[in-house]
Amino acid sequence: MKRPIAAIAGTGRGLPAAVMTNFDFAKIGIETTDEWITERTGIKQRYIAREGESTTSMAAAAARQAMQRAGVSAGEIDAIVLSTATPDRLLPATAVDLQAELGATRAAAFDIGAACAGFIFAATVAEGMITTGVAETVLVVGSEKMSSIIDWQDRSTCVLFGDGSGAAVFRRAKHHKGILSTYLRSDGTLANLLYRPGGGACMPFCDDVLQDRSFYVKMAGREVFKHAVRSMADACDRALDGAKLTGKDIDLLIPHQANMRIIEATAKHANVSMEKVYVNVDRYGNTSSASVPIALDEALENGRIKDGMTVLLVAFGAGFTWASMVLRF
Ligand code: UT7
Repeated sequence: MKRPIAAIAGTGRGLPAAVMTNFDFAKIGIETTDEWITERTGIKQRYIAREGESTTSMAAAAARQAMQRAGVSAGEIDAIVLSTATPDRLLPATAVDLQAELGATRAAAFDIGAACAGFIFAATVAEGMITTGVAETVLVVGSEKMSSIIDWQDRSTCVLFGDGSGAAVFRRAKHHKGILSTYLRSDGTLANLLYRPGGGACMPFCDDVLQDRSFYVKMAGREVFKHAVRSMADACDRALDGAKLTGKDIDLLIPHQANMRIIEATAKHANVSMEKVYVNVDRYGNTSSASVPIALDEALENGRIKDGMTVLLVAFGAGFTWASMVLRF
């Protein structure tokens, strides 16, 4: 008997109302320029959550749209797997807040912490639940309020990130569509190149943590850049091998949207031409685990992904964690 396949039945995205352009940094006293940000990253603007907009509220907007497009009601959801580096509260998981918000009373709900690669990690958990019969319908969400953990006095990081959420409903597929291969990796020995030193259980929130701003994201940008290029290239190879495909078979590559130069290097390595690469980093910045599902949702909505197409997802982030997935639509 053939192994069952998990496939995407619908996607959605949820974004804050406010947009912050590169020019807006001058208004808050950050010494930077549109030219620097554009040249180094490709980012022109990002969405920033304001009062009343949370990781949960953005996730709920994305989830509702995904459920509506999938034709799935809240009562049909067996599990909610939510990836975030910016939970609304430290306890309980943001996934249970989302569950309550949606009224998905039958669901098991939990968070995954795999940073920017988190959506692919979460989708792999969903696939496991579906293919082993633990669940039939799984809501997978990447939701981030990055503006709440970046240091607005540090120009080397605050210009890079944005807020938002992307969601996908996964169900057991009836045809030969869905997840064809997945690759997940981590390397915890490099954790200190991109992390938040303070505010957790080993350095609990206190006056010192507040004073030295160690609860904000710290990143060794150049080092992270090098690892991102290497690891995303490796991840593309692995997922393509797993699906017995090459870059030439890929109709659309959706890479994590952190930096245009990393995206271009990844596409080149995977042997996918830039016309077949989905890019929205200019409009969103780096939304961490929301980046891949937001791009996926846009690509489905605007017809870049059509029935029968083969799509490669790849992401890299804090941990380090990196991951890839080949899907047939
Ligand atoms: O999602 C997780 C994965 N994260 C990433 O993939 C991020 C990976 N890293 C990067 O994308 C890039 O390393 C950055 C965009 C963060 C930085 O680009 P870079 O080309 O590596 O620049 P750099 O950090 O080496 O800095 C170059 C210069 C420095 O000045 P000096 O020392 O050369 O005089 C910085 O002080 O640019 C300066 N700089 C800025 N200047 C204007 C740093 N940030 C800014 C800024 N505006 N916002």
